[in-house]
Amino acid sequence: MNRILDCIINKNTSFVPVWFMRQAGRYLPEFRKIREKNTNFIKLCLNPNLVKEITLQPIKRFDLDATIIFSDILMIPYALNQIVEFKKGSGPHLGNLELDKIINTNSNNFINKLLPVYEGIKKVKNETKDEALIGFVGAPWTLLVYMINKKSPKKDFNFNYITKDKVLVNELLKKLEETICLHINHQVKAGANIIQIFDSWAGLIPQKELFNYCFAPTSKIVKYVKSLKIPVICFPKGIGKNFKDFCSIVQPNCVSIDPEVDPKLIKKETNGIAIQGGIDPKILLEGNDQIKKTVQKYLQIFSGYPYVFNLGHGVLPETKPETIEYIIQIVRDQT
Ligand code: CP3
Repeated sequence: MNRILDCIINKNTSFVPVWFMRQAGRYLPEFRKIREKNTNFIKLCLNPNLVKEITLQPIKRFDLDATIIFSDILMIPYALNQIVEFKKGSGPHLGNLELDKIINTNSNNFINKLLPVYEGIKKVKNETKDEALIGFVGAPWTLLVYMINKKSPKKDFNFNYITKDKVLVNELLKKLEETICLHINHQVKAGANIIQIFDSWAGLIPQKELFNYCFAPTSKIVKYVKSLKIPVICFPKGIGKNFKDFCSIVQPNCVSIDPEVDPKLIKKETNGIAIQGGIDPKILLEGNDQIKKTVQKYLQIFSGYPYVFNLGHGVLPETKPETIEYIIQIVRDQT
């Protein structure tokens, strides 16, 4: 059994496994080299040989406990026939949302568009054997936000505007729940043995709507993953003091926390559910002393508790690869 499963399923605390969100990405010169020649990001995610190569880049460099497949949460809107483009420096841009077209995408059409993703996973699986291989999806809410807002909601987001057309929202959530499960099923068949659900924009949901837009739709996905006998990690980013309710309602095998979460408090509130992450990725841009202090703080707080070392969000492009190596060494030395 790999170390992450041992931690989040068996609650073995004798070892702290470590991996990083966005461990393959722009901070690695070998990724940038491939990216320069492949300007269409979606096409890159649909190239099984390059998916394999990029996925394995951090594995070749570092002593990591998990491989995460190189792909994107926006492959689902793409497979539902909404245009998805990535423009340099301004993040994802989606085309017009045509509900009919989306609703009429049947499962065969949907899966056919994503076959190269599964082909890429199979190629990675051949190289990684029984090690942790993480497949992932966006949560229904986060995908809904991108599909309706058509770009990152970082600036000017209005909850009432996004959710005003209740028919659209309900139809879309239904279709997303169904296709997210399909996408998970095919990732697992191809070799993924852990699933992480990214709800990157859960923090935009008002408290009184959290159940409807985050807890309830995510619970359905979690139940589905568990029915496949596969462990599931949830990352409901930005929900602050609501992590406790999230854990008791959604019941993931592991919850990934963001930098706003007080690690000492959360440990008392998760009722034994494994915890992952937490450290602000910006810390990695500071000096080694500051980095070491922060890493040791998290390790100390979670000592004796099932904890997977990771960051509170993805590795920033400005991060030095040596910093990742430095952190892994600290984690290894302490446990
Ligand atoms: O973690 C990993 O190493 C696996 C790969 C991965 C990517 N995206 C590759 C990627 C994962 C897990 C994701 C998830 C993802 N994608 C999320 C959830 C996590 C989060 O960051 O909150 C979201 C919201 C997206 C949507 C998305 N894709 C954004 C906002 C961006 C950044 C755009 C930009 O210009 O900064 C992407 C592109 C993307 N996905 C990159 C990578 C490595 C950068 C590609 C590039 O421009 O070279």
